[in-house]
Amino acid sequence: MTPDEFRKAGHELIELIADYREQVADMPVRSSAAVGEVLRQMPESAPIEAEPASNVIKDVENLLLPHLTHWQHPSFHAYFPANAELSSVLGDLLSSGLGQLGLNWQSSPPLTEVEQVTCDWLRQALGLSVDWQGVIQDTASTATLVALLCAREKSTGFAQMSDGVRTCGELVVYSSQQAHSSIMKASLLAGFGQNSVRACAVNADFSIDVHALAEMIEQDLAAGRKPCAIVGCTGTTAITAMDDIEQLAQLAEIYNCWLHVDGAMAGSAMILPEMRHLWQGVEQADSIVINPHKWLGTVFDCSVYYVRDVEHLVRVMSTNPSYLQTSADGQAPNYRDWGIPLGRRFRAMKLWWLLRCEGVSGLQQRLRRDIDNARWLAQQIEQAEHWRLIAPVALQTVCIIHEPPHITTAEQLDNHTQSWCEAINSSGEAMLTPATITENDGETRWMVRVSIGALKTERLHIEHLWQVLQKSVAGQL
Ligand SMILES: Cc1ncc(COP(=O)(O)O)c(C=O)c1O
Repeated sequence: MTPDEFRKAGHELIELIADYREQVADMPVRSSAAVGEVLRQMPESAPIEAEPASNVIKDVENLLLPHLTHWQHPSFHAYFPANAELSSVLGDLLSSGLGQLGLNWQSSPPLTEVEQVTCDWLRQALGLSVDWQGVIQDTASTATLVALLCAREKSTGFAQMSDGVRTCGELVVYSSQQAHSSIMKASLLAGFGQNSVRACAVNADFSIDVHALAEMIEQDLAAGRKPCAIVGCTGTTAITAMDDIEQLAQLAEIYNCWLHVDGAMAGSAMILPEMRHLWQGVEQADSIVINPHKWLGTVFDCSVYYVRDVEHLVRVMSTNPSYLQTSADGQAPNYRDWGIPLGRRFRAMKLWWLLRCEGVSGLQQRLRRDIDNARWLAQQIEQAEHWRLIAPVALQTVCIIHEPPHITTAEQLDNHTQSWCEAINSSGEAMLTPATITENDGETRWMVRVSIGALKTERLHIEHLWQVLQKSVAGQL
């Protein structure tokens, strides 16, 4: 493709994206595609002869767009909000268009320095002290893996440089029963082994039970095991529970454990000074991960990993082959030594565009709007007969259950929950996520998560959702 062909097709594509965003609210939220429906309409092999870009654009319009699940729909309340702001889309486009690759500072000085600047701007916006330095990873899963590798190496006095962990005794990682699956995955990949990963019991508000955690640690110590890392969560995935980071920090200090804070989803809310009490104590942690590619509005993928001890991080992660050495080494960060991949995208560009074009106050306003909307819905649920909030509403996720009196068994209730949720999702009116939760009575039951925070979601959409919820349980959808 020549630059001139790129210009022409690029203009068309930008128009297509802008039209899509303007019209998305008129489409059914969830895709009704059958498995393989898109696949079957595509040729089995790549074209031998070049096609004009206009052919590809036609297929995007006719084959892909009609089958999308619309994450940017104002009634998208599934999973979590993501990929939203068009300013960030422009940054992403530019990042690819400039064709930059970060291997060391020299390979693209702006790639490194924009990353330094944006991570620091975000640090300030989050109210974190100057003790923290950030680096962009692809996802929170990777950042947590990096954190646990750093924890392992701290506990073992850099066993990776000698015999590895096999002579270091049994190292243990602690998190809560509500922790994201990425904590287990990272623990396994970092070599801890499933038997050495503890899922601690939770309190009534689903935060980690710190007393139970302390007991667990004592038992491990008594059995000759070595507590290594505690992963606390600021905003668990299912219900946005908030672990008490301050208390976890105290335990981490007593037992000499690494403290990693998983703020993948709710970390974005810390740009609101009034929400920072939710991660009180975070300054005592060793590492934090926040996903600007979720609620903050940056396009995927952009996870910022903050650490206090960069020297330790680099010691764990660095390799220094001769062909990557330059005269700038030591004067500027080589971000390849702050994470796993060598080659790095210009990911900071999309965060830079977001922060500049939306401004911190614009982002704050949007998040506050979403929190208000979540509180409004929570109020309706609390006041309505037979509806129940299944967990406190800390931010923008509202977890609900409908318990009509004619339903008497747990199985019937689960069927009812899944069926009204599916009725909504297949109607295209809104999209919600069903999930299980173990409540304080010890019963594990299905509930429905309403995640509020798509860019275009206003109060009127939440009012509409409340109507849709009531219709669905009455069998009127
Ligand atoms: C609390 C929490 N941690 C980690 C993750 C994993 O995020 P990622 O997809 O960036 O790996 C999620 C994703 O939903 C999450 O909610």
